[in-house]
Amino acid sequence: MSMVNNFISEGVYYIGVDDVDIKLFEGQYEVPLGMSYNSYAILDDKIAVLDTVDARKSDEWMKNLDDCLGGRKPDYLVIHHVEPDHSGTVRAFMEKYADCTIVCSQKAVGMLENLYELRFDGRVQIVKEGDTLSLGSHELSFVMAPMIHWPEVMVSYDKKDKILFSADAFGKFGALSREDEDDEGWACEARRYYFNICGKYGAMVQNLLKKASAFDISVICPLHGPVLTDNISYYLGIYNTWSKYEPEDKGIFIAYCSLHGNTATAANKLAEIIREMSDVKVSVADIVDDDIHEAVEDAFRYDRMVLAAPTYDGDLMPVMADFLNLLKVKAYQNRKVALIENGSWAPMAGKKMRESLGSMKNITVVEPVVTIMSSVKDSTIQDLRKLAETLIG
Ligand code: FEO
Repeated sequence: MSMVNNFISEGVYYIGVDDVDIKLFEGQYEVPLGMSYNSYAILDDKIAVLDTVDARKSDEWMKNLDDCLGGRKPDYLVIHHVEPDHSGTVRAFMEKYADCTIVCSQKAVGMLENLYELRFDGRVQIVKEGDTLSLGSHELSFVMAPMIHWPEVMVSYDKKDKILFSADAFGKFGALSREDEDDEGWACEARRYYFNICGKYGAMVQNLLKKASAFDISVICPLHGPVLTDNISYYLGIYNTWSKYEPEDKGIFIAYCSLHGNTATAANKLAEIIREMSDVKVSVADIVDDDIHEAVEDAFRYDRMVLAAPTYDGDLMPVMADFLNLLKVKAYQNRKVALIENGSWAPMAGKKMRESLGSMKNITVVEPVVTIMSSVKDSTIQDLRKLAETLIG
């Protein structure tokens, strides 16, 4: 991986920006190490700029672009993805470079008009699957990648230097200038990014991977996160696992919420028992206190999950209902799930969790559901021990 290094290959440069002030990406995802909005320039006989950046960072990006151009003028602006974190500076760019042609998919045109009331006045070149754009020694081949993660998305491949410009695919949370603070490695924040942003679109990611297999790829230039230069087969392989909804690791993820601490006690006791009985990896999350999007990530990461929740208002504690809904939206599937319910006089949480899981594909509920009547007792410990034995298998 290369971090903040604007040279990618001869004539190909990184001109993106970091956003270390942003609190929530897309207004919802925590990004404690910020976010990068990546953008690239290819300086050849012709010059192509590949994507702009979020409007929050327009001035900085324009300066990066100026520095890179060295007085030349761009011929093309290739727009792989119209979401505002990448198109926020298109208007300013078009005003500054009035002779530059926009290169994008047909769907992107209407989206740009809707977002920014842009008028292209003949300055647009629409490309479709297999079209190419020759810049001299570099030539971009376009591959449509709809719904990764908007409909207009395309990626491009530069045969000369074997570079895949991959749009949101292979992206990662975190500013490039803070990569060295991310001691968990690329996969952790790339996984949280993938499942929360692209998770719903596994079939489309599979399509893209199939198309990409025709290319010899040495470098992946995504729109977020580091440029990937080493061990490309690892990144392609892990995206294959994620997009097939296969577990990445064997292990048990326990997600709980708790009103007065009793359900939390049960969840943590189960983790303790599993650890005593086996060396199976266990990860525990309080979905109220911990980042719920990290919980989504862990649900997909492991092959087994346990949900522990109290009954509330004759229904399920709302945060667990929200978590299950998030999993459903992200197409959670193909997993074993065990349930722990709590209810002081009429437990309903198990029934509600089961109903929600029933709307997801290929979920096996591990029987029996453990029921806690208010607090953890000796009999509960026995039930948790049996559940642990079943889960460990
Ligand atoms: Fe990075 Fe889908 O925008």
